[in-house]
Amino acid sequence: MNKFSRRDLIKFGLVGSVSTAFFPSILRAQTGSPPVTPFTISMTVPPVLQPVSRNETTDFYEITMRPAQKEIIPGLLTTIWGYNGSFPGPTILARSDREVSIRQRNNLNVETSVHLHGGHTPPSSDGYPLDMIEPGEHKDYVYPNHQLPATLWYHDHVMDFTGRNVYQGLAGCYIISDDVEDAMPLPSGRYDIPLVIQDRQFNADGSLVYNAGAIAGFMGDRILVNGSVQPFFHVERRKYRFRILNGSNARRYQFSLSTGQQFIQIGSDGGLLSAPAARSTITLSPAERVDLVIDFAQQSTGSSIVLNNLLGTGSTAQVMQFRVMARAYGKWRQDKFSVPETLRPVQAIPPGDATVTRLFTLTGHSMINNMTFDPNRIDADPLLNATEIWTFQNQSGMHHPMHLHDIMFQVLDVNGGPPPAWDAGWKDTVNVPPGATIRIIGKFTDYTGLYVFHCHNLEHEDAGMMAQFMVS
Ligand code: C2O
Ligand code: CU
Ligand code: CU
Repeated sequence: MNKFSRRDLIKFGLVGSVSTAFFPSILRAQTGSPPVTPFTISMTVPPVLQPVSRNETTDFYEITMRPAQKEIIPGLLTTIWGYNGSFPGPTILARSDREVSIRQRNNLNVETSVHLHGGHTPPSSDGYPLDMIEPGEHKDYVYPNHQLPATLWYHDHVMDFTGRNVYQGLAGCYIISDDVEDAMPLPSGRYDIPLVIQDRQFNADGSLVYNAGAIAGFMGDRILVNGSVQPFFHVERRKYRFRILNGSNARRYQFSLSTGQQFIQIGSDGGLLSAPAARSTITLSPAERVDLVIDFAQQSTGSSIVLNNLLGTGSTAQVMQFRVMARAYGKWRQDKFSVPETLRPVQAIPPGDATVTRLFTLTGHSMINNMTFDPNRIDADPLLNATEIWTFQNQSGMHHPMHLHDIMFQVLDVNGGPPPAWDAGWKDTVNVPPGATIRIIGKFTDYTGLYVFHCHNLEHEDAGMMAQFMVS
């Protein structure tokens, strides 16, 4: 009992707990999910949550985390855990510098903690893994949104069980905009669509299969977009903005379009790039976001395009299908949208500003500097307003998407060379491939206190691949 904590034993299903109901399914022989014919399910867009009230400074929301049943595999019901019972959770629309306050009520029978991924948030609202909401309790999270417009997401972050809770459905989009971005001619309104991409595996009865002990992280054999398996989506012959979130626990994707057409990438985790980048393929690790424009005007009405995953095989090689229709009538008849040649300037942080450098090695399957997470140990102690350079050196044989809370950073170099243009914007998660060394630079502004940083392969995170920094 000295090597494993009680939480480890619960996690791997070795002792009873509130979560045992969840485990019988994972111990069953895994034969693959019931079949789903690709592109037969219509994609939905998660609902936008309306505030319960507003005042001069703040929009107030209320969310209840609760179980719900959803038909994901046709003819079967799957029990998910959802924010307001929705999978993915409802989208929250926020504005830069306008506060959002969310009362999160936990009507599940497990502890939860809600983290705004990409949020520049005081520690008290950051969803620290041990800052838990007990079943039946609630907590108010306050987000100042004193940050650039970007596609963020909120998801569960509870100690040791983040992977399970996110897999069960606790994740949703949180999109920040501002007047500057509104004034740009980018596709907007019904032509600006989030795509939450996740993989899941199902038992024959429709229940979810999960295994927290998977060394490489848990990967499902079905790809879901906004909660639907390999859906189709009707698009008009015009430009669309898609905000793609890799909300998978462990799976990496390499996207391409079946027509060979390029994506026009306009943003990354932390918002718009300084200039658009045309890309034939885009690789996305867990928690990373890419903001892009696809122009369907070149396609003929009635044709279809598949969003492929070049890292997948069989049922995971195709993500979704776009079905091209004529443009709508009325005020949307013309496509007045365009992608400006310059977007929002990203000022490179001069390396000379850094006063401290730190090295973090990624070893074993879940260690940082040869240690697993210890809430009683501070692993880095940046001063408020200090700029620091952190080096991630991957000495393991696996990819580790490294994520920092609190700040957006910039990738300084990848194996000594500059990052590609599309990775040179603001980031909060950077994949560190096996053997790679990546340096990031960032400034710790506004808030003091305790934050975590970790591998965003959620099974790695839960196995201890997490550390913490105290800003003072
Ligand atoms: Cu998206 Cu610490 O998490
Ligand atoms: Cu985060
Ligand atoms: Cu990892």
